[in-house]
Amino acid sequence: MEVVICPDAEAVGALAASKVARVCRDVGPEVVIGVATGSSPLALYDHLARLVREGSLDLSRATAFALDEYVGLPVEHPESYASVIDRTVTQPLGLDPARVHLPDGNASDVPTACRAYEQAIAAVGGVDVQILGVGANGHIGFNEPGSSLSSRTRIKTLATSTRADNARFFERLDQVPTHCITQGLGTIMDAREVVLVAQGQHKVDAVAGVVEGPVTARCPGSVLQFHQHATVVLDEHASAGLAGAQEYRNAWDHKPDWQRWR
Ligand code: F6R
Repeated sequence: MEVVICPDAEAVGALAASKVARVCRDVGPEVVIGVATGSSPLALYDHLARLVREGSLDLSRATAFALDEYVGLPVEHPESYASVIDRTVTQPLGLDPARVHLPDGNASDVPTACRAYEQAIAAVGGVDVQILGVGANGHIGFNEPGSSLSSRTRIKTLATSTRADNARFFERLDQVPTHCITQGLGTIMDAREVVLVAQGQHKVDAVAGVVEGPVTARCPGSVLQFHQHATVVLDEHASAGLAGAQEYRNAWDHKPDWQRWR
């Protein structure tokens, strides 16, 4: 796991975007990107969008798969992840909407829809780079504490704390859906690269669990310690609980030129 500590949230977005852009350029125009919603990756998307506008990155033939979708929220609801991804990813990054996929949160047969989602990812050869945030309780995707470390796309009950965290996107807590369909931890682990971004004091325990804690279903993101190519980009606040912070800075500062992607 590569841990990079940045001075502030803006720098997290810029650096993480440069990592994602590097993978996109290396893979080529038909790159497959895994995309997260939430606040954490917004600066990353802004920076990617700037690269697209400047003409140094073309994602018009890229394919995207969202991590998750609420169950039972109409697609046209402004907070459905279909709407959020369209607003924050598809349009600003110039993706072809026909190549942007989300789990079907309104499927009448949820298990079949989940299998179809896994098959759609496999059919394009898997995800080249997966963008992740982390929940304050350590979830990635909506794999809440207790999730199987080898889980696949399925329906999950949102943790009480996750619903409370996400209530900021709705008028009232009781409008936040109780369930979601999420890629599993095994699905996420199949991505060839993962880039996790976290900012702010409220993520300090989750980040410590993901990066340095025991690998445990109590902190689902800790499974990333088994990933061969996981990059974690943090601001100072989110990194404050890391015992190895000095060593991560040292490793980053002394990276050989051929390994650099900034
Ligand atoms: C979003 C997702 C979640 C979020 C996490 C952090 O698609 O899968 O894991 O990344 O809840 O959310 P924010 O970034 O809003 O703190």
